[in-house]
Formats: sequence, C-alpha cells, structure tokens
Amino acid sequence: MPLPSLAIQERLRAAVSTVCPEADLETVQVRPCPDPRFGDYQAVALMSLAKSRQVPPRQLAAEVLARLDLSDLCEAVEVAGPGFVNFRLRPQTVAAALSEAAEQSLPFVTPAAAPRTVVVDFSSPNVAKPMHVGHIRSTILGDCLARVLRRLGHRVITDNHLGDWGTQFGMLLLGWKRFLDLQALTRDAIAEMERLYKLVHAACQQDPSMLEAARRELVALQGGDPQNLAIWREMTTLSRAEFDRIYERLGIRFDYTLGESFYHPRLQALVDELVRLGLARESEGAKVIFFDNLPDLKDTPLIIQKSDGAFNYATTDLATLLYRIETWHPDEILYVTDARQQLHFRQVFAAFRMWRPDAAHVKLVHVWFGTILGEDGKPFKTRSGDTVKLSDLLDEAEERALQVVTVKQPELPEAERRRIARVVGLGAVKYADLLSNRQSDYVFSWDRMLSLSGNTAPYLQYAYARTASIFRKGGLTAEAARASAAKGIGLQTPEELALGRHLLDFGLVLEAVAEDYRPNYLCNYLFELAGRFTRFYETCPVLKAPEPERSHRLYLCEVTARVLRLGLEALGVEVLDQM
Ligand code: ARG
Repeated sequence: MPLPSLAIQERLRAAVSTVCPEADLETVQVRPCPDPRFGDYQAVALMSLAKSRQVPPRQLAAEVLARLDLSDLCEAVEVAGPGFVNFRLRPQTVAAALSEAAEQSLPFVTPAAAPRTVVVDFSSPNVAKPMHVGHIRSTILGDCLARVLRRLGHRVITDNHLGDWGTQFGMLLLGWKRFLDLQALTRDAIAEMERLYKLVHAACQQDPSMLEAARRELVALQGGDPQNLAIWREMTTLSRAEFDRIYERLGIRFDYTLGESFYHPRLQALVDELVRLGLARESEGAKVIFFDNLPDLKDTPLIIQKSDGAFNYATTDLATLLYRIETWHPDEILYVTDARQQLHFRQVFAAFRMWRPDAAHVKLVHVWFGTILGEDGKPFKTRSGDTVKLSDLLDEAEERALQVVTVKQPELPEAERRRIARVVGLGAVKYADLLSNRQSDYVFSWDRMLSLSGNTAPYLQYAYARTASIFRKGGLTAEAARASAAKGIGLQTPEELALGRHLLDFGLVLEAVAEDYRPNYLCNYLFELAGRFTRFYETCPVLKAPEPERSHRLYLCEVTARVLRLGLEALGVEVLDQM
C-alpha cells in the first residue's frame, strides 16, 4: 500500500484529470497541512488551476471533490478559505500505515520513482590553508544534502573541489624555498605553510623584487618545472592528510577529490574554443566573456584568461562543469559555498549555458549560505581575533560536551564519558549549523547548541537513548515489538494518534529538504517528533499498560526511535543507545 499522503495524491490527480484534462498533474501535490487544526494534509494546486481556467476556485474544488472518493482513508474532505482542500486521516488509516512500516528498513519513505544523478560539490578547502569555520558550513550542509538525496534513492556523486592550483603557489613556493622551518612543518604542516604564505605576502608588499621572484616560481610551476612540481605535490599531500583527519572525525567521505589542478591541462583549449565560438573576445589583452543580453550580468563581464596568460577560478569552474557532465551525466549539480560567491556562480552558469546549449537539461544550483557570527554579532573569531580553525572548534566541542556529560552522569568512567562527549559535541556543532536557515547568518553559541533542552542535537540524542532504555527496562527487543505490530496495531488516545500521524511524514520532509536544499526542515521535524513522543510517553503508560495496548505502545516507541535515528543519520549526527 502506498503511504496515505501518496494514495490521496494519486486519487486527487485522477479526479483533477477528469475535470481538467489539460492540467499538469505534477503540480497537484498533497503536502502536510501547515496548521494541523485544519487537517493532516492539504492541496493548494486547485487554486492556480481555477485561475488559469477562469472559474471560481471553490467551484472547481467542488467539482473535483464530487469525483473523489477517499472515504476509506479520510474523514470528510473540506474546501477551506480561498480554495485549499484539506484532508484528515482516519485513525485506522494511520494505524495501518504504522503497522506496514514494521517490516520496512526505511519506514515512511517512498523511494524516488525517477532517481536523479546529482553531483554535490562541497567542502572544497584550499591547500596550504587551514579549514576555517567558513568551510564548516559547506562541509556539514553538503554532506547532509548528499545523505538525504541518497536516502531518497537518488544517485549521488560527491566531489571535493580542492583549491590546489592558482596564483597563491607562487608565494608558497618562494616561501618554501627560502624560509621553510622543517621542524615546524613536521609539527603542524598547514600552520607552517600558512606562516610561509603570510611572510612572503607581507614581504611582497614592501619589495617588488620579491613579487617578481614569486611570479617566476609560479610561471615555473605552470611550465612543469620538476622541482616546483615536487614541492607543490608535497604541499598538497600534507594538506590533504590534515583535511582527511577532519573528514574522518566528522564521518564524511567523498567519492572524488579531483581538485582544481586536475583541470589545468584543459584550460587553454577551453579558452580557445570560447574565442573561436565568438563567446569570448579580447579586451585589453585579456579574454573576456560579455553577457550583453543578460540585464543582470551585462555590467559584470567574466575574465577567463588574463593578459599575462593566467587562468581564473571561473575558467577552472567552466572546465569542471563540462567534465562532470561528460563523465557522470548528472541531472543536477549542486555547489555548496558561502553567499559571497553568488556572482561567480551566476556568471559561470550563464557562460556555460551560452557555450553548451545542448546541456540545458542539467540543473545547476548554487546552494549558498550565510556567515557564522560570534556572540557579539560580528563574524566568528577567536578571542585573539584570528579566524577559528575547524579542528580547534571540534576539539572545543568535545571538551565542552564532556562537561555536560559529566554533570549528567558523574559516575560513568572517564573513557565512557569521552566516548559520549565525542558524539554529543560533534553532533551539537553539526546540528546547530543545519538548524539555522542556511541563507541567514547565525550566532554561534556553545551554551545553546549543547543545551539538553530546546531544539538541539543533545536533546534529540537523549530522546533517542530514552526510547532505547524502555526496551532495556522491559527486557524486550525491538524485533519482537515489530513482529507483533506487523499483525496490526490500534491507536486509542489523542497523543498516540498525534505521534503516529507525525511519523508518517518522515519521507515527505526528506523530499522537501532535497527540493529546497534546506536541512532545517528535517531538524524541525525531528524536534517536533521528540515533543510529540514526550507528550505520548507522559500521558500513556507503556510497560504497565494491559495488552494489547502495551504492545502497540512499545511499537510506537520502537518506530519513533527508528525515525529519530534515521533522521539524525541523514543530518550526519550519530546516536548512542545509552548516554
Ligand atoms: N575553494 C573554494 C573556496 O574555498 C571553494 C570551491 C567551491 N567549488 C567550486 N566548484 N568553485 O572558497
């Protein structure tokens, strides 16, 4: 049986197509009702359909409803306001869907009927520089989107577009050759490379001969000088080792890490082709793409080759885009970076559209996000005013979580408390990041994100552990609860019903996340789930209830735990059975 929301949608579409044969049925969607007082689900599509047919919306709705029989699934269907259609499930419909989920590994999720291939470009830090909190959002958000899309059955390819090529290597090479401190390099490679870069950068401001020397190193690297290539390779290897430690810690994997350097050999041919096609032209010695026909971009042409022959970040992105399309044949490519790159991606996408109209079907999306702010409302910095390094931030998260865990469970051995603190601390950082609307800035607050009450990872992780403890206390297994629920369950109280209804929408929420690229929907869904579970648990005895309520309620605990775990997993947040 399809999920009730899907069953309603299918029947609604059938009814719509008899009344309006020309309607685009894709637009007819059944979604959770924003206000549960009016119903469980809602369809708004009839209003725009009515508008295009120039009939009163309520009249069209009445015509459609006359052809719609949902009596087996829903209470009376209602037309409300200007023409919404509201549906409320019968309790037995909810119970039947819950029972069906007992035997499913991914409950309440309908796998995509037409799976898409989606490339997710995220994290993408720069070689020889530490990952800073700006990369944290890209890393956490990108990983979450990849997880959600995979859960829905899409084919996902993750690619870490490492900044491993570019003009900064001129200064880095010069610094490496003249000022390298080998001991410091062994101690903390990225810090030493950062020191070298800053040193040479400062020297170049004073001394034009330094600038010239750095330029020569860059030209030699680009010309394939073996020594410079070897140093460059070492810088990349050292940086990647450091990045990999962070990814490992965060439980993040990439399918590919091709990096900008991979595309370098393709760039000259690309520029030549764009010139030949008349899409780029020479302007003051540089090769430039002008967007004369695009009002919002006509004042911001895109340089793809500078007058000294060097290529740009954008040139590499054009080559990357073509490579990805030719290699992986994606339906969609997501770029997860901060808001400051909006113009860059608008230009790259527009240039690509002119260049390759044959790839017009590929959806290109810049999934951008705002800044992380300190409690003073200014961009997040360390106390001394430096940019915060991601690895330090994660250390602090674990330390602070240890204090929280110690207050709660002082009797646990330290090793055990540390194990829990790792899961709580990293979970808190990730969750706080995903919870905020990605397009607004958010204030980084340790106290808030580590709080055990409120919409936080620790709160949800404890809620999960509590459900697991019910089974331990009763000496019961989740398998037994599921086996009995597969034969059918009943929902008696309003709290049971409210919890059950909410569980049904897990898959719809994942779909909404994937559609708008907004994990905060999932955070809010899980928080609401934990709240409904608490209300159920406080009003309905479970282990002390007589049969068959006892089994039904145990199953409600089990399936809530499963959805909490799967949901947190989709956010990249781990859970523990015992905390
Ligand atoms: N390395 C860049 C940065 O740190 C991000 C790269 C994003 N991806 C891309 N295809 N441009 O800002």
